[in-house]
Order: sequence, then C-alpha cells, then structure tokens
Amino acid sequence: MIIYKTKDYDDMSRKAANIISAQIILKPDCVLGLATGSTPIGLYSQLAEWHHMGALDFSQVTTVNLDEYKGLTKENPQSYYYFMNENLFQKVNIDKNRTFLPDGTEPDSEKACRQYNEILSSVGTVDIQLLGLGHNGHIGFNEPGTFFQAETHCVSLTEQTIKANQRFFASEEEVPREAYTMGIKTIMSARHILLVVSGEDKAEIVKKAFFGPITPQVPASVLQLHNHVTLVADEAALSQV
Ligand code: GLP
Repeated sequence: MIIYKTKDYDDMSRKAANIISAQIILKPDCVLGLATGSTPIGLYSQLAEWHHMGALDFSQVTTVNLDEYKGLTKENPQSYYYFMNENLFQKVNIDKNRTFLPDGTEPDSEKACRQYNEILSSVGTVDIQLLGLGHNGHIGFNEPGTFFQAETHCVSLTEQTIKANQRFFASEEEVPREAYTMGIKTIMSARHILLVVSGEDKAEIVKKAFFGPITPQVPASVLQLHNHVTLVADEAALSQV
C-alpha cells in the first residue's frame, strides 16, 4: 500500500484527482469505479475544473459506482445516481450511457444484483476503484461481518451507518434501511484501488483497517491483501498511525 499524507482535505482532493486524471490521460477509455459520500466531493470538483479548462476528456470513459440505496428513485436528491450527476457527470463530457450504478428502483433484490453483476462483467476490469471509508470500516456498503467472496448484493445498513448518513436526509427515518452494493470480491478485482480519507474522526478506523488484523469485522482491512492500493489521507486521518 502506498500512503500519501496530505496537509488537509483540499490537498487530499487534489492529489487523488491527479491520480484519476493521470489514469484518464494514460488510458482514455478506462473504466473508473466511483464512490459517493462527502469525502470524494472535492476530488470530483477538481476533475470537473480540469475538464472545464480543457485538460481532461471524459468522452471515452466508463464508470461503475459502488452502491445505491434500495428504494430511492433517480430523481431523489439523496440517491447516489443524483449525487453522481450533481457532482461529476453533468459537469464533464462523459457519455451518460457509459455511467452505471445499481438500480435502486428495482424492488427485486436478486434481479437488481444480477443485472449489476452483468453490467460489471460487460464493462471489464475496473482500472481504478475509488473508495471512501465508513466509520465502522465499511467500503461501499459492505458492513462489518461482510463475506469477502461476495459480489453485488443487497445489504441491511447498520445503525451506525444509518446515523452517519442521516446528515444528508431530513430525518433518520428517511434514511433507507437497505442498499445494493458491489461486494468485496468485486472491489478487490480492480487493478488499482484509490482510497480517500479525511478528518480526525476517521483516524481510529484508519489505524484499525490498515495497521490491524485483516477481518470481516473491519471490511476495509481486506485491502491489505490487494497488490495495488493507494491511500490518500490527510494528516488528521493519519494522526493515530
Ligand atoms: C457511505 C457510502 C460509502 C462511503 C461512506 C463514507 O456509507 N456508501 O461509499 O465511503 O459513506 O462517507 P463519507 O465520505 O461521507 O464519510
């Protein structure tokens, strides 16, 4: 694992955006695995800015997102589909037909997951998979106790995750209780994994996940077994290591 310690959130965002941008320049038709949450917002805005300046062309890029809430429509501002449009897709020249997320509006979980696995196989190996880190070590929506061999599946969110994500909703009751997520096996099959982490509130989980034992109880710890992981984290997030 390569670790880049950055001064602060903005520095983290710029460094991570540089890595993604280099990937797009080296392989214009690359497959990017994308993430939501508050952490990647700065890097998406940096990528959009470089695109705006004429420095970055998304026209041949394909994207697959990690996860989506079950039951939220694409028009729902809390859906990850909406998030991706707002923060990246509508700001760059990406072909919308090449942007994929699990279908949160499909009530049949088995069907939704099967369809997403088919999409993932059809786009081929992910060149860079971007990841954020949940406070309990979740990646995507793979919560503690996750099965390392899982592909896309439907998960029940833990109380901790519901509480953490409540800030985006009007009330805790509105946070969906289930989500579709790429599994650990899917995430681990990416060529390169880029993890972004910011803030002191993540310092403890950073230590546990990357400097502690590999265990399904801390899903991100599995990344210690991947041969190409880049962690870009600010000083605060690395303050316990
Ligand atoms: C959500 C997402 C994750 C994300 C995590 C951390 O639960 N499903 O993909 O990494 O939150 O979010 P944040 O970056 O806001 O701390």
